[in-house]
Formats: sequence, structure tokens, C-alpha cells
Amino acid sequence: MNSNVRPADMARINTPELADKFIAEQVELLKKQIGDKKVLLALSGGVDSSVVAALLIKAVGKNLTCVHVNHGLLRKGEPEQVIKVFKEQLGANLVYVDATDRFLDKLANVTDPEQKRKIIGAEFIRVFEEEARKLEGIEFLGQGTIYPDILESDGVKAHHNVGGLPEDLQFELVEPVKLLYKDEVRVVGARLGLPENMVNRQPFPGPGLGVRCTGAITRDRLHALRESDAILRDEFAKAGLAGKVWQYFTIVPDYKSTGIKDGKRIWEWPVIIRAVNSIDATSASIEEIPYELLHKIVNRILAEVDGVNRVLYDLSPKPIATIEWE
Ligand code: XMP
Repeated sequence: MNSNVRPADMARINTPELADKFIAEQVELLKKQIGDKKVLLALSGGVDSSVVAALLIKAVGKNLTCVHVNHGLLRKGEPEQVIKVFKEQLGANLVYVDATDRFLDKLANVTDPEQKRKIIGAEFIRVFEEEARKLEGIEFLGQGTIYPDILESDGVKAHHNVGGLPEDLQFELVEPVKLLYKDEVRVVGARLGLPENMVNRQPFPGPGLGVRCTGAITRDRLHALRESDAILRDEFAKAGLAGKVWQYFTIVPDYKSTGIKDGKRIWEWPVIIRAVNSIDATSASIEEIPYELLHKIVNRILAEVDGVNRVLYDLSPKPIATIEWE
């Protein structure tokens, strides 16, 4: 039987009981597969790799080493949450690598979106490879592959792209959620005790904020992007929209417009709000955000985020506009 094909009679995991059963079975299988050997996992903090990490912690404990690479393009509070949940609460062996400067130096003056993606992907593999080489006796590599990845691609996620590791670092793969759909991964994650905002996280692209800071990324514009995104998420959460809107974020383009502050003319960036509903990202419609909430978000961004003098709301559906701006 091809282990990459979901059996026709496999029940959809949609209850806590079914999730518990899956967890118990997978923990046994992982124990059997790994024994007392060591496993390495790139832990992004996204739901898939987080669920794999939590399963592996249950199965092999300290024989799992998680590597969390901060490429400087994560959202506000994300690296801190990964450290808190996995190191402090679940007692994982976690290596945290702040590679912000490395990534941003490589990305300086790079304007082409695909080139930016390539640099981020390649640098991620390089950082991960360096960390893997520091560790001894690793035989397995954990991956957060899920069933749509197998159906839609060659089974390796773009943003977990550790498939590009060199020949001498080819470990045996451990992919405990590879037959699950996203909604099932979320049910399993909740039963594993992962925080609600991690389990129900909106999709976040591998290149992270890098494709929302359009054109050549600069640290000050990236800062404005991270802060405005945090305000949007905070207000959506308070308004009860966080779990209802499929994907929502801000964009800071690389151009400026005039404004006026303290009686003086200023020349600053706009922030663009994007909030879409979708099922599988191939098409998207616009969420109708109440005007009152929009005003609140606009006022907060203008008051709290340095370098910003305008807030715009993108009402374009996909198609014709893509969800991301790059
Ligand atoms: P677009 O912009 O093409 O996005 O409408 C569709 C979905 O894919 C996400 N996206 C990415 N995810 N690496 C990823 O892992 C990428 O380079 C990338 N580009 C877009 C986007 O956030 C949306 O959910």
C-alpha cells in the first residue's frame, strides 16, 4: 500500500475522541519508528509543524530537537510564543536562531518578489543546515507535511523547504500528519494542548512579512508593517473576527505620500489593509468589516505606527487581484 494515499475508510478526525485516538496511535508509531534515536524538526510556529512537534515531544521527549529560525519576517510576538509554548510549557529541546540580520542583509536592495522568495528559501536552508551540523547523532527529520501538500505538490512544503539539504544531511523523514487535512490537524492540535491562536492561526506565507513589505525591504518599513499587522490582529480578535475571516493582514508599499503633522508637511508611507475570505486560496472574496471597526483600526495605526500617514482598504477580490501584494 502506498503510505502517501489516505485510505478510503479513514474517518475524518472531527471530534476530540477521534483526535485522542489518532494521537495515541501516532505516538506509538513514532516510538516504534524512532526508538531511542534522535529527530530534528524545523519549527515555524505554524499549526502543522507545531502539531508535529507536540506529537514528537510526547513520543520521544528530549530526543527531539526543534530549530526555530527567526528570519526577521515573522509577525509581532511569534518567536516569543514559540519559545514560551515549546520550551517553557512543553519542555522541548529548542534551538532558537535569530537570523534577522543575515536575512535582511541578503535582502537589501532586492526588489523582485520571486528573487526575494528565492533568497528567503535558500537562506532558510542554509541556517537550518548549519544548526543541523552542530548536532550529533540525528537520524530523522520531522516534517509538517499535510495531505493537501501531497495532493498538490511533490509532498514537500515550500516554506518548510528543508528538502534542499545536502546529500550528507539526508535524514529519514518523519511525517505523522501527512494524511490529515488542515481542519483535522487543528482538532489534533487542540487536543495536544496547543494554544487556541496557534491552532487556529490564519495562513501565513513562508516568506512571511517579506512579501508584504513590497519592493526592497527596509528595517523601518518592516517595523511599520509588523506594528500595523499587530494592531489589525488585535482589533480583529477583540471584535470576534479572528476566527471568522480567513486571512487578514497589512501591507506597506515602497512609496510615500504627503500628509500634515503638527502644522508641517510630512512625506510618509501608507498602510493597506487586506481581509479576505476563501476556502482554498484559489479565489477570495472581501470580508465586510464594519465601518466602526475600520475607523478604530485606522485611528490606531495612524496614532501608533511611526512613518505612516494614510491607511487604505483593499476591496479587490481574487481574481483579479491575488491575496498577497507580491
Ligand atoms: P496569492 O497571493 O497567490 O496567495 O493569492 C494565495 C495563498 O498563498 C499564500 N502565499 C504563500 N505561501 N509561500 C507560502 O508558503 C509563498 O511564497 C506564498 N505566496 C502566497 C498567501 O498568503 C495566500 O494564503
